[in-house]
Amino acid sequence: MSKSASDAHALKIKTEALASLEPLAEQLMARHKENRRLWFPGDFLPANEQMTDEQARDMAELPERARGMPDAVRVALALNLLTEEGLPHFHRLLAVTLGSDNAWSRWNYMWTAEEDRHGCALHDYVRDARLFDMRAFEALQYQYIEAGFDPDSSGDPYQVIAYTTLQERATQAAHANTARVAGRHEPIIQRLLAHVANDESRHFRFYRDIFRGILDIDCTRALQAALKVVPRLAMPGHTIPGYMEMAEVVGRAQIYGPRHYRKVVDECLDAWQISQLTPDDAEGREAQDKLMAVPARLDRLADILEKRTRSKSFSFDFIYARVMELG
Ligand SMILES: [Fe+2]
Ligand SMILES: [Fe+2]
Repeated sequence: MSKSASDAHALKIKTEALASLEPLAEQLMARHKENRRLWFPGDFLPANEQMTDEQARDMAELPERARGMPDAVRVALALNLLTEEGLPHFHRLLAVTLGSDNAWSRWNYMWTAEEDRHGCALHDYVRDARLFDMRAFEALQYQYIEAGFDPDSSGDPYQVIAYTTLQERATQAAHANTARVAGRHEPIIQRLLAHVANDESRHFRFYRDIFRGILDIDCTRALQAALKVVPRLAMPGHTIPGYMEMAEVVGRAQIYGPRHYRKVVDECLDAWQISQLTPDDAEGREAQDKLMAVPARLDRLADILEKRTRSKSFSFDFIYARVMELG
């Protein structure tokens, strides 16, 4: 079989596998809805003419309370917010890969509605707290969307589900860690980010369990797909000027970096019970071995990065071009 014929054959099998997993998707979506309590950005950041005196005072005093927010924490908030605002890219990725008028599209619409509140709430917060030069930030957000996002995983439903599993868990960790540090300076952001992080945990459970279902029915192809995604999680914005510097600041501030990603990978490999699988061909066993070697490889990469780390200065237009020095 030629390469393109075997790719088409594999895609047909994957599409059929996904169709056979629709009942599982419906079941996991029902579990998700039972476990969530919908919240809205206005619950944290009221903005209407009938606010109570206490709410009005709280909002009026927000910029003053947030004034001491360290610049590295502002960068973490910016990176989290940009990632959330990449939602059009992620919605498209799921829609194109998983098709329409099925359990996956029903999930995608509901998931998108939930995710949309994350970017909205964070945007309202940084604006109401006066944390950023908003025009500079909005220009960055514009670039992020305009740049598009066509990861190698496009078209492969297995890779897309492995990707979203890791991404949900990674964003959960980033939001939760940012909440902890930012909460030392201002309480509203801590509550808001805790709600966002809880949403990400529930999304993570959905994708994680779907991928587990894929491993059950098409083990080797699932392992090969995971191996394409797990070693390096590429975010939509990684090519945008300044994006990698932002990620470096957040890593140096110990909010989210390679060590955190290693934990995400550990958790996924455990939940998918990779070490206990028994693929029935050599290709499957090879992918399994390589996947199990990823955590140690990520540790070595983190060691190298940490050894190389010298004090460095950073500056971002959206934080008023102030210079920050980080060790
Ligand atoms: Fe989100
Ligand atoms: Fe999410």
